Amino acid sequence: MSAPTEIPDVVAGALDLSRQRGFITSTRHETGRLLAALAASREGTLAELGTGCGVGSAWLSSGAPKGSRIVTAELDPSLAEEVQRLFADVENVDVVAGDWSTLEQYAPFSLLFVDVREVMETIDVIADLLEPGGIAVLDDFVPSTDWPPIVDGHVDSVREQWLTDERFTAVEMLIDRDASLIIATRR
Ligand SMILES: C[S@@+](CC[C@H](N)C(=O)[O-])C[C@H]1O[C@@H](n2cnc3c(N)ncnc32)[C@H](O)[C@@H]1O
Repeated sequence: MSAPTEIPDVVAGALDLSRQRGFITSTRHETGRLLAALAASREGTLAELGTGCGVGSAWLSSGAPKGSRIVTAELDPSLAEEVQRLFADVENVDVVAGDWSTLEQYAPFSLLFVDVREVMETIDVIADLLEPGGIAVLDDFVPSTDWPPIVDGHVDSVREQWLTDERFTAVEMLIDRDASLIIATRR
C-alpha cells in the first residue's frame, strides 16, 4: 500500500467518534481514499446510504469539488444527531436522520456509496437513483477467485448480479486481503 499516512481533519473527527462509540464498521482508509478520488471527478449530488459515524461522508467531502453536495442517511437517530454535530461546520454535507429511502428526493446522484447491506441487494432501486454516468460503490465483499463468486460454499448471487447487469459497467477491486468492493458505473 502506498498512500500518505495523513488523513484529512474531517475524517479524523469521524474516526474519533467511531472510537468513542465503539463503532467497528466504519469505512477503512483504503476505501475512504478511493471514495475521495472518485468524488473528485463528480459534480452535483453525491449520496451515502448508512452514515455510521460519518467516516465515508468525511472522505467524500474531502475529495468532492466546490459546488457539489453530499447527502447521507442514518437510521439510528442518536448516531445521526452526533454526526450532524460533527459536520455542523462542513458546508457541503447534509446528514439526514431516517431510513436510506428518505434520500430518494435528492436523486439522481452522480455517486452513491451504498453501505446498507439490504440495499445492495436491490439493484433496480440503485439503478434508478443514479444519473447516466453515475457511480455506485458497494463495500464489504469477501474476496473470491471463483466465477461465479463463492463465499462459504454458496454462490454470492448479489455480487454476480452487480458484475453482470447490463445497465452497469462494473468491476470488483481488492481493497485488502480480506475485503473487496464493487464500482459500478451507470450506462
Ligand atoms: C456499515 S455502517 C456504515 C458505515 C459508514 N458508511 C462509514 O463510511 O463509516 C452501516 C450503517 O447503516 C445504518 N443503517 C442500517 N439500516 C439502515 C437503513 N435502512 N437506512 C439508513 N441507515 C441504515 C446502520 O445504523 C449503520 O450505522
